[in-house]
Amino acid sequence: MRVHQKSACIKIISLKFLPGFSLISGIHSPEVVDQIQNFEIQDSDVFVITYPKSGTIWLQQILSLIEVKGDVTATINQLNSERVPWIELLDSRKQFVSAPSPRICVSHLPYKFMPVGLKQKKGKVIYVARNPKDVLVSYYHFHKYANINCLTSNSQHISCVSVFGNCWFEHVKSWFSHKDEMNFLYITYEDMIKDLRSVVERITSFLARNLTSQQLNDVIEHSTFKNMKNNPQANYQQIPVILLNHQLGSFLRKGTVGDWKNYFTVAQNERFDRVYQQKMKDVPLSFIWDMN
Ligand code: A3P
Repeated sequence: MRVHQKSACIKIISLKFLPGFSLISGIHSPEVVDQIQNFEIQDSDVFVITYPKSGTIWLQQILSLIEVKGDVTATINQLNSERVPWIELLDSRKQFVSAPSPRICVSHLPYKFMPVGLKQKKGKVIYVARNPKDVLVSYYHFHKYANINCLTSNSQHISCVSVFGNCWFEHVKSWFSHKDEMNFLYITYEDMIKDLRSVVERITSFLARNLTSQQLNDVIEHSTFKNMKNNPQANYQQIPVILLNHQLGSFLRKGTVGDWKNYFTVAQNERFDRVYQQKMKDVPLSFIWDMN
């Protein structure tokens, strides 16, 4: 393990067993990630997989609400980050194993670290992708208020140096190349912005949950950007300031499609497109977003 020495804040750890993959010290550990492969998977388990800044917090809210059939009052006693916890966090093993069925979790980890059972069509995986240009802008802002020792400039991100989650291209490709081994639902952030109801319907159908039309309306209503921003259970305002300086930014930042156009120069955009085309040329994926 190699620890990058930098100022007095949370540090990124590079892992020996997957060169170049980084975790955040203080909240993650290589030993915990190592254990995940041995988790016993139940058919009812649900894994939400995202690259950072792709709408993970949004899925935590939607899945929390689906499980209580849209009744937001049933979620007020527990944070979504506890209802739908991170599998890679330090105490994740205990949280995951002891959670009542259906156990629902989120993760930014690559496919490689996942439980063996998940790769044998036990449990279900929901993969959420977002236009990497908007991911980049969102991540850039995140690092302005996150006390995490990562690199923040566009050019550094594009060349896939150590940020948690590592390279966007590798993340998407690692999951997609194995999707047929899993019960796998693919959705995009852009789909959710365009037609949240139809995405929630796809999720409920994939998870075999029966919700009435009114219950679906309630899930959607309480999953809007505005309502989540005002909902302390859903907006991560409770994350300690040692990790996130809430005076400098918030998880629910802008919640739009195409914000990258406000940040990329023409040259950066052209460079990004070149890298995208080169990295994705062998991937039979049709993303719905318009890269331009
Ligand atoms: P922006 O920074 O572009 O606003 P993650 O949870 O994976 O870190 O993703 C965070 C991103 O999802 C942020 O993007 C956040 O605003 C956006 N997001 C979260 N909930 C949302 C919602 N209900 N509607 C739209 N965007 C949402």
